[in-house]
Amino acid sequence: MAVRKKTKEIAEFGDLQTPLILAERVCAVLSARIPRPQSIVEPTCGRGSFLRAALESFPDAPRLVGIEINPAHVRSARALLRTTPGGGRVEVVQGDFFGTDWNELLRGLDEPILVIGNPPWVTSAALGTLGSANLPEKSNFQKRGGLDAITGKANFDISEWMLIRLLESLNGRRATCAMLCKNAVARKALFHIWKEGIAIGNSSVRSIDADTFFGAAVDACLLTCNLSPGHHNCDCEVYEHLGDARKSGIIGYRDGHLLANVEAYERWKHLCGRSRYKWRSGVKHDCSKVMELRAENGAFRNGLAELVELESEYVYPMLKSSEVASGSTGNPGRCMLVTQSSVGEDTRVIESRAKKTYKYLIDHAKFLDARGSSIYRKRPRFSVFGVGDYTFSQWKIAISGFYKRLAFSIVGPFKNKPVVFDDTVYFIPCKTREEAELVISLLNSAIAKEFFYAFIFWDAKRPITVEVLQKLDLLALAREMGLEQAFAGFVSLEIAPAHSQRQARLFK
Ligand SMILES: C[S@@+](CC[C@H](N)C(=O)[O-])C[C@H]1O[C@@H](n2cnc3c(N)ncnc32)[C@H](O)[C@@H]1O
Repeated sequence: MAVRKKTKEIAEFGDLQTPLILAERVCAVLSARIPRPQSIVEPTCGRGSFLRAALESFPDAPRLVGIEINPAHVRSARALLRTTPGGGRVEVVQGDFFGTDWNELLRGLDEPILVIGNPPWVTSAALGTLGSANLPEKSNFQKRGGLDAITGKANFDISEWMLIRLLESLNGRRATCAMLCKNAVARKALFHIWKEGIAIGNSSVRSIDADTFFGAAVDACLLTCNLSPGHHNCDCEVYEHLGDARKSGIIGYRDGHLLANVEAYERWKHLCGRSRYKWRSGVKHDCSKVMELRAENGAFRNGLAELVELESEYVYPMLKSSEVASGSTGNPGRCMLVTQSSVGEDTRVIESRAKKTYKYLIDHAKFLDARGSSIYRKRPRFSVFGVGDYTFSQWKIAISGFYKRLAFSIVGPFKNKPVVFDDTVYFIPCKTREEAELVISLLNSAIAKEFFYAFIFWDAKRPITVEVLQKLDLLALAREMGLEQAFAGFVSLEIAPAHSQRQARLFK
């Protein structure tokens, strides 16, 4: 498809018009699967592809309504529908999604209702950069738990907000909501439905080729939610292609978890619990030019290509996420200047302990002081984050959060110093090589892999997160693998009170 050049206006309104051919395919998929709608709504109808395709697939639908903010698109949609049989039944209104009273509008419509479309492809952060006001007004939604939680988030997809707004207004009605959106948005909408107890029957996600149809390099899908009073189905079928008859899997919701693989969860949910180990992130410094170095002829070369002399006291061998992901962990080529051993530690002590290092920091203060993140404000100068005893443990089990591979590596000391990581690496600190070897044998087992696969969405930006890693109770896994005694040699098996109370309740 010919992709329009992205102007500010296109970006601001997330304006990627659906080609008619795709709208027709979507409506053909729906017409074979949902009850004949009495009312059809396209909440951000653009130039009207979905309204036209819906008229073709549901020729008996008595009422169709489209809303669109852009007056030129409204004119195009009206013109398109004038040439479509039955187009006289479609009302295209110029309006703002955020100013529309959706409860009121949907209340007046006969059931079953079909809400169909392709909401704007833009995030609140992008709108902030563009200085755009095409956002929900936060104050309007103070009393709405779900939406309020979203508007409180630093960054959110506008389509996520719109979808949830529509689903909340459709709760308790016989309706289908079928929208093209990013996979990540579809998952957030489903999570919201399931968590908030919205009455839902079947649902599905069917992959679409966003690159071909929209020139967008994202994983996207048709999300279809069949809302049905009295139902609360927490499974969602996954299809690899829009028109597939056979599903490729089921994502779902159980015990408060959003699941990438419901079957795997059902098999291994008894391994879910409090991990005896705490997963940690690598060191965050936001200034790689100054803080990351390469050893060279007894000195260090920084990211500004300067050769500098530093005492060894604050310099540690480091591995980047890509090296951890590829398993190239044996011979770290980089070093990191770690200015603190715990968060908030006074950095002025560096001056007495390592004069050259302190001078280096002062000489490069303009880079460090200019770090944008608010976490550095009101902290000692040259602060870093993600530091504690665990940073300096000699043995670690590490995994990269950025790469789409579930592979854990043992990282031991290098030249008698503990190896540190960048902040996209997650790790467990271990006291000895033996402990690290046992822990990695657990984590790299087929059972652990299947357990984690229950939670990991591989198309997410960061598929592996601390939250996911922390779900696996390594003691329960050791028991499953007959390694409980060996495991007991390294960690306390004492169960914390909160946990034992929960267990007591479970076994009552
Ligand atoms: C991704 S395009 C899709 C258009 C149409 N739904 C389709 O499938 O071809 C998103 C549409 O949302 C419209 N839009 C953006 N913000 C809006 C708002 N606040 N209210 C109503 N429409 C809006 C844009 O003008 C654009 O036409």
